[in-house]
Amino acid sequence: MSSEPATAASPRIPRHLAVIMDGNGRWAQRRRRPRVIGHRAGARAVNVCIDFCLERGIEALTLFAFSSENWGRPEDEVGALMKLFLNALEREVDELDRRGVRVRFIGERERFGEAIRLQMTHAESRTQANTRLHLTIAASYGGRWDIAQAARSLAVDVAAGRLSPDAIDEAAIAQRVCLADLPAPDLFIRTGGDTRISNFLLWQLAYTELWFTDLLWPELDAATLQRALDDYAGRERRFGLTGAQIAAPTTNETPE
Ligand code: IPE
Ligand code: IPE
Ligand code: MG
Repeated sequence: MSSEPATAASPRIPRHLAVIMDGNGRWAQRRRRPRVIGHRAGARAVNVCIDFCLERGIEALTLFAFSSENWGRPEDEVGALMKLFLNALEREVDELDRRGVRVRFIGERERFGEAIRLQMTHAESRTQANTRLHLTIAASYGGRWDIAQAARSLAVDVAAGRLSPDAIDEAAIAQRVCLADLPAPDLFIRTGGDTRISNFLLWQLAYTELWFTDLLWPELDAATLQRALDDYAGRERRFGLTGAQIAAPTTNETPE
């Protein structure tokens, strides 16, 4: 491999990183503290991750903060998470804006209380012109919900006569799932030791490289993220083709 340093334009650096931030509860329990202390520590790790993306020139970061299924957790934990979420929004938006981060939220927003929904809208409109890093927070999000809402929106257009059922292909669905305006995630990272997707971006992760670590989310540091990037840089992404096709991508187009 070349010793040339990878740059943001290099295919060896992911353009879009998607992260399941897992392990907050266990981090706290190991310290004999309530789970909410782990969530608080987890909020700090979010900044580590954002800083890393800004430094490396990664274009898009999507963070799984709260799943559709997480609503089923004990009421006091959900309540504490909502408070933390609101505080973090109020506290961080100015700084994110100053650093050129565009913030957006994906998920079933109607399930949040009004104060959080207002802060989400405020954060989105305040940062909408920024282009340095596209930060998407998946909150009250589920990959199945995402596909269902895309299907529903296609059905509405069919029912209104604006769309023919024959026009529903992969591209049409891809346009209606969340993150449609971003490149698909190149690299997925999950902390916390479990090797599963947990209903994160089911459609969008079809050809994403997956990387797992036992490290708990509040322990996240730049060195760990760099290990994930180094691993990614050494992988061959074949997208169903052969290694030879990937090595010489123009062979088929230029037969002479
Ligand atoms: C991730 O940490 C944060 C959320 C799901 C909100 P967990 O709270 O799932 O922590 P563990 O997996 O129980 O340790
Ligand atoms: C996935 O973590 C969701 C988030 C990190 C927001 P969970 O802790 O909810 O996942 P499971 O229950 O271990 O699959
Ligand atoms: Mg968990």
